Amino acid sequence: MYDINIFIKVKELNKIIISPSILSADFSDFGSAVSQIDASGAGWVHMDVMDGSFVPNITFGHHLVRALRGRTKSIIDVHLMVVQPGRFIKKFADCGADIITFHYESEVHSQKFLTEIRDLGIKAGIAIAPSTPYMVLEDILPYIDLALIMTVNPGFGGQALIPECLKKVEKLKEIREKAGLNFRISVDGGINEQTAEQAKKAGADTLVIGSAFFSHQDKKSLISKLQN
Ligand code: DX5
Ligand code: ZN
Repeated sequence: MYDINIFIKVKELNKIIISPSILSADFSDFGSAVSQIDASGAGWVHMDVMDGSFVPNITFGHHLVRALRGRTKSIIDVHLMVVQPGRFIKKFADCGADIITFHYESEVHSQKFLTEIRDLGIKAGIAIAPSTPYMVLEDILPYIDLALIMTVNPGFGGQALIPECLKKVEKLKEIREKAGLNFRISVDGGINEQTAEQAKKAGADTLVIGSAFFSHQDKKSLISKLQN
């Protein structure tokens, strides 16, 4: 079995993690999607939960996390794009999520819910959309295991990366170093072989990849290329 802590330790932050998103998988066969991710060697599965309110699409909820928990050994990395995400934290944790990330924009009491996630024995992430400045995260960084910088506007796969968002990655990396913190910095949206290099150069250590993963013929070589 996996040990999520090895992915989070400070000394492991130089290790690039790839988290393929099943948003771009065949929605009639998520079981096969996680098998493909497991076989690729990525080690994480990104699950985009959308409620049709915070973002203009509806995807799936905690019952799918429970169903896939039995099918994959990978770390289940849940990205909540829902209003009032605090309502669902315990449900997702009980169903087997290893990391729960919610949007700063969706919850007034971020620190409270980040603490609640950690108290459930799993990892806590906070996400910001392209229009949200990175500075809003400064005071809550000690409470997070992962900062997810959206590099597209959330809600859809297959969009082009917005390059300005990578400046936030650079800034957060600087702050992390100065403060001696150990959260991961993830980018999500428009990541492919080319943009992955830009993201890594900016300081991202965790890359979410949807359409570029599922459209690739040789997923294993794609993952090992992106990990290096
Ligand atoms: C978008 C999601 C992303 C999405 C990325 O709102 O948060 O995780 O799956 O898809 P690509 O890699 O196709 O941009
Ligand atoms: Zn996502």
